[in-house]
Amino acid sequence: MGEAEPMFDPYRVREDFPILRRRIEGKPLIYLDNAATSQKPIQVIEAIRRFYEESNANVHRGVHTLSQEASELYERAHEEVAEFIGAEGIEEIIFTKNATEAINLVAYSLGCKGLGPGDEVVVTLMEHHSNIVPWENLSKVRGFKVKYADVNDEGGLDYEDLEGLVTRRTKIVCVTHVSNVTGAKNDLARISKIARDNGAMVLVDGAQSVPHMPIDVKRLGIDFLAFSGHKMLAPTGIGVLYGRREILEEMEPFLGGGEMIREVRCDKSDGTCRITYNELPWKFEAGTPNVSGGVGLMEAIRYLRGLGMEWVERHEAELTKYALKGLGEMDGIRCYGPGPDSERGGIISFNMDGFDPHDLALLLDQFGIMVRSGFHCAEPLHQRLGLKGSVRASFYVYNVKEEIDELIRALEEIRKG
Ligand SMILES: Cc1ncc(COP(=O)(O)O)c(C=O)c1O
Repeated sequence: MGEAEPMFDPYRVREDFPILRRRIEGKPLIYLDNAATSQKPIQVIEAIRRFYEESNANVHRGVHTLSQEASELYERAHEEVAEFIGAEGIEEIIFTKNATEAINLVAYSLGCKGLGPGDEVVVTLMEHHSNIVPWENLSKVRGFKVKYADVNDEGGLDYEDLEGLVTRRTKIVCVTHVSNVTGAKNDLARISKIARDNGAMVLVDGAQSVPHMPIDVKRLGIDFLAFSGHKMLAPTGIGVLYGRREILEEMEPFLGGGEMIREVRCDKSDGTCRITYNELPWKFEAGTPNVSGGVGLMEAIRYLRGLGMEWVERHEAELTKYALKGLGEMDGIRCYGPGPDSERGGIISFNMDGFDPHDLALLLDQFGIMVRSGFHCAEPLHQRLGLKGSVRASFYVYNVKEEIDELIRALEEIRKG
């Protein structure tokens, strides 16, 4: 962190999140399910309320004042997202519903033009289902092949296996930046090089990295980046696809309708219809978009930039180290993923001997502690690691060490029965 950047105090940050004042079962809420979705600061809640109270209108369709204001806000939201991730401009920023839709957009657009028999798509065994299912489903229709890069016993990517799978037939390599199960962080520069050496594109699932660390898409040398607003303090229903401009210009839109077209000329006499698409990014945003979601995402990004993404990353790394140490000292707890000194995100999945993950999560709920249990939409990784599920604790800007102490105290109490 540069000297001029402010150091934030998580106790002060907590005051911005009204939900953290709630009590569950008479106990203070301890929210450790941030990998599923984050809580929202008052600044984001207020920005959405202000939009509906003062500027609500449809965008790009009216000449009146409100439509102009709403359009300006919506475009500014694209600009601020572009700045946040180091994109060239709004042409490279497409708003979607979430990371899942962003990945599907790439898959189906390439499926329209660019992927067919003889082609291959390489994914990894550590992907969220959203970066597996679209490719698998489409491969059955379009006749290309999906190949899976392995992970090691710690759940980290097996780079040699990946390197062996990527060939001149590979059209795109699709990887998560940070695993939503183990927190393992992938070396995107290394993956990009492997892909580029073979003429393949790289799609990165940034759902668990963009909210938590500084990201610069140009420096990473990737072609696509997908992420969700709701995991980074913004509301649900707004997500982002970053795409390299040259590639987006060539790609076919996979949804058609209003907003994404420039001209539609239908000739009844000969039955032809000539359609020209709108410019980027609107070519990929068919229909009325989630304008208030965009406004909320812009405010969330301002909030995160105010904290400083270096601070966010460092704060979560400290919490993760602290939690891994505490859990590691307990009897009967097995944590998965890379060790505390590895590069990893603020996500810890674990099991406690003798307890089913869902039962354990329910018992923790009685202590006011919210964790996720099951496969976390990453069943292939659990299978590979020989697990029938796990409990996941994941951290964000408002979590503090005392909450981890409480988690460990609660686990001790549950274990003793
Ligand atoms: C790594 C990863 N990718 C993709 C997603 C999908 O996000 P969404 O449900 O917001 O589309 C998630 C959500 O948990 C995730 O953790």
